[in-house]
Amino acid sequence: MAVEKRITKSRIEEALTWRYAVKKFDSEKELSPEQLESVLTALQLTPTSMGLQLMKFLVIKDEKLKEAFVPLAFNQHQVVDCSHLLVLCRVDEVREEHITSYVEQTAIIRGLKVPSKQLDGFESMLRSTLNMSREQQVKWMDNQVYLALGNLLTACAVEGIDACPMEGFMPDKVNELLGLTEKGLQSVILCPIGFRSEEDKYATFPKVRRKTAELIEHL
Ligand SMILES: Cc1cc2nc3c(=O)[nH]c(=O)nc-3n(C[C@H](O)[C@H](O)[C@H](O)COP(=O)(O)O)c2cc1C
Repeated sequence: MAVEKRITKSRIEEALTWRYAVKKFDSEKELSPEQLESVLTALQLTPTSMGLQLMKFLVIKDEKLKEAFVPLAFNQHQVVDCSHLLVLCRVDEVREEHITSYVEQTAIIRGLKVPSKQLDGFESMLRSTLNMSREQQVKWMDNQVYLALGNLLTACAVEGIDACPMEGFMPDKVNELLGLTEKGLQSVILCPIGFRSEEDKYATFPKVRRKTAELIEHL
């Protein structure tokens, strides 16, 4: 058991030191359908607060569409040189249908009777938790999208796939480009994925991280 634990830890460390925020992708290299599916699974399986998953992930392969992101991302070329550009979105606001469809889905998947005390209790817990200001809702939903990003970055690292998390873009312009507002969505973060170019000097830079002793305190 102890040995198993040690192996797992070193794999995590290896993957997370291998990864870095790619500045230059090799535009000739593409993810296989299996690779793409495996990292998208990490998004789908991301845990979220109360399990509501008020988010959507857009996968862009089309070269012309990727090209349109370059000016919206302050000329950062990762958005076009990558194999796939992921746009991580949240819903614009929590709606009645989000709650009812989730409760229904829970009943079906877990084989619960409808109506039941258990489901009613679950639904009222959801409603009382979501009884927050719009500003709080937005912050809360954004947090969930960042969790998905974290999961995605780790999954990519484990699979030997490169990525670059990107906040450096204009969300309103991306919303406009993709017609997201009409779809009830808002872009939160971009994440191009693919394979690093051999010319990306950032791959050789040592990681800058605070020391474990500074970051972690055992009480
Ligand atoms: C939320 C978030 C937003 C980021 N936005 C950008 C970005 O717009 N462009 C970029 O080149 N790197 C971006 N980065 C990369 C960070 O600068 C990088 O992750 C950090 O310096 C640590 O370096 P490493 O990921 O290479 O280990 C972002 C990272 C995170 C987590």
